[in-house]
Amino acid sequence: MADKTAKSARPSSDMTAFRKEFAKAKSIVILTGAGVSAESGVPTFRGAGGFWRKWQAQTLATPEAFADNPSLVWEFYHYRREVMASKYPNKAHEAIAECERRLKPQNRKVTVITQNIDGLHKRAGSDSIIELHGNLFKTRCVKCKDVAVNNDSPICEALRDKGEPDPSAVDAKIPVENLPRCKISGCGGLLRPHVVWFGEALNTEVLDRAGEELDKCDLCLVVGTSSVVYPACMFAPNVASRGITVAEFNMEDTPVTNEFMYHFQGPAGEHLPAALAKCDTEK
Ligand code: OAD
Repeated sequence: MADKTAKSARPSSDMTAFRKEFAKAKSIVILTGAGVSAESGVPTFRGAGGFWRKWQAQTLATPEAFADNPSLVWEFYHYRREVMASKYPNKAHEAIAECERRLKPQNRKVTVITQNIDGLHKRAGSDSIIELHGNLFKTRCVKCKDVAVNNDSPICEALRDKGEPDPSAVDAKIPVENLPRCKISGCGGLLRPHVVWFGEALNTEVLDRAGEELDKCDLCLVVGTSSVVYPACMFAPNVASRGITVAEFNMEDTPVTNEFMYHFQGPAGEHLPAALAKCDTEK
């Protein structure tokens, strides 16, 4: 274990020491945020590129924005869905998925708890994933509440070629009856993206599942998140306060960096493959 006695001490960046702890861990939680997808070309929230037209995501990702202008909010999500068609998992997603596959026969568990809605962990092959903020490729009916996977492109005819991100683009003003509608017979309600918006609570079942994994983990990695959005920003500090080793992988310090045992500064696609590679002790 690295030498980090006081909470305020700088975390270690000793990869050899981290690897010794990784070799022994039986239940690993990997918490991820937008930074894990940055090397796939998916813009992060708080970096440059967080704008669509003249709005920040935080303005459109709200129940009020959807109630006020569902056409505009659907254009925004349609754009984000279409962008993902040209993006692929990167070395960080792949290292996580490979690690889960490799450790499973050793009765060692890897669980991804992600704030991302881009579906890239699944596409990389991870199986045990808890999506805290939902998924871009799922819809929820506002009337019957049915949740469905939807990979259609475009999601409805009226959105074809819409969603242009340029600030000069004109709002498509699609009539609500032409926006995505529920396919359950007799329903036909308006669909919304199955994502958690600002001002909305996280799904309690999802939170409970995350809590269970966090409670029993014996190693935690926190990757590519600014750690400023509740409740996810508290997960890793809470694990660290139990005396469990937490390693942060980020391009920069975050408000919680000094709570952790390790901090590996730099692109996740560079450090994670090294951190999660096969150990000599593995068969
Ligand atoms: P942010 O955009 O807030 O933070 C991204 C973090 O990734 C920053 O700390 C960057 O330094 C780091 N980063 C960038 N590139 C990286 C790389 N290649 N390798 C490692 N780290 C890198 O994104 P989140 O923390 O995920 O919520 O944001 C949390 C939530 O706030 C989102 O899920 C979203 C947003 O508002 C909702 O939509 C509900």
